[in-house]
Amino acid sequence: MWEHERLVVRTGKRSGMTTMVALHSTEAGPAVGGCRMKPYGQITDAVADVLRLSKAMTLKCEAAGIPHGGAKSVVVVDRPLTPELRREVLLDHADLINEFGGAYRAGPDVGTGPDDMLVLRELTPYAYCLPEEHGGTGSSSGPTARGVLAALRAAAEHTFGTADLTGRKVVVSGFGSVGELIAEGLAGADIIVSDVDESRRADRFGWVHPDEAYKVKADVLVPAAVGGVLSPETVKELDVRLVVGPANNQLTDDGVADLLAERGIVWVPDHVASAGGVIYTLAREDDGDDHETALRRVDRIEETVRRLLGPRR
Ligand SMILES: NC(=O)c1ccc[n+]([C@@H]2O[C@H](COP(=O)([O-])OP(=O)(O)OC[C@H]3O[C@@H](n4cnc5c(N)ncnc54)[C@H](O)[C@@H]3O)[C@@H](O)[C@H]2O)c1
Repeated sequence: MWEHERLVVRTGKRSGMTTMVALHSTEAGPAVGGCRMKPYGQITDAVADVLRLSKAMTLKCEAAGIPHGGAKSVVVVDRPLTPELRREVLLDHADLINEFGGAYRAGPDVGTGPDDMLVLRELTPYAYCLPEEHGGTGSSSGPTARGVLAALRAAAEHTFGTADLTGRKVVVSGFGSVGELIAEGLAGADIIVSDVDESRRADRFGWVHPDEAYKVKADVLVPAAVGGVLSPETVKELDVRLVVGPANNQLTDDGVADLLAERGIVWVPDHVASAGGVIYTLAREDDGDDHETALRRVDRIEETVRRLLGPRR
């Protein structure tokens, strides 16, 4: 079933690279979503990714009570990106964003950051998260991590009877910008991190090889790397009681949620746990909230998760 409003794929006139925007829904308001820039095996893989991610953004906005719909964009990196080529493909992408006349508004995602948003802004007003020195809110990793920590408090209370994770074993899979902030925010817990990039290894935390991260016996698993990590196969091997993390689209398909439930593993849907970044950015950049007020809105994820999970199991 085709449930998206629009999918546009273009070859950039400057770069010759493929960029695309999927608009899932504008029912609640203009659609927001990040711009992902990475290589894909086939164009069809990129299309599948952008369609899945844009739908997740609709769910994320809805769960967070944000008056926006969901969209996402992808830049398919098909050769080494020199600074010149990166700029060209971003300008091409800005042209594509403009075709949507404001129905799609972009932010950073995997492979892009605030400096890239600044390049988009040269040609389109529809780009969020510019660097702070240019009047934007910069990287949303901090608010995203804060939202995950809020979700963790509510989910831990539901699962363990206390929001305090002191002494609990927590595996953080993906020690990138959000994963690191989550690990830092869990003072007192026994943290084990994992990353495909060995150079990310940090002495202050335990370490597990990425192939083992989803098999370790622990209390909590925090998926903070890539999507599609919870499959029928990986769920069979999980030895944790709670899964909460920022990675988008963690399930390989919706049925995996039932498998988690059958095994008695509490899972907080990623579109709920990872909404801190978008909540914060829109509160600051659209609603004009100050930093503290916007963070308080992020903290409401704790209440949302409490309502979602219900009383203690
Ligand atoms: N940054 C945000 O504001 C934000 C908001 C919502 C959702 N997310 C999602 O959260 C996740 C993490 O975001 P981020 O900004 O920290 O990204 P990041 O690129 O900074 O970090 C991701 C880390 O995961 C590692 N990694 C990649 N594949 C891996 C694998 N198979 N196993 C273990 N490690 C692996 C990378 O080496 C990297 O260190 C992503 O899925 C992202 O889409 C991020």
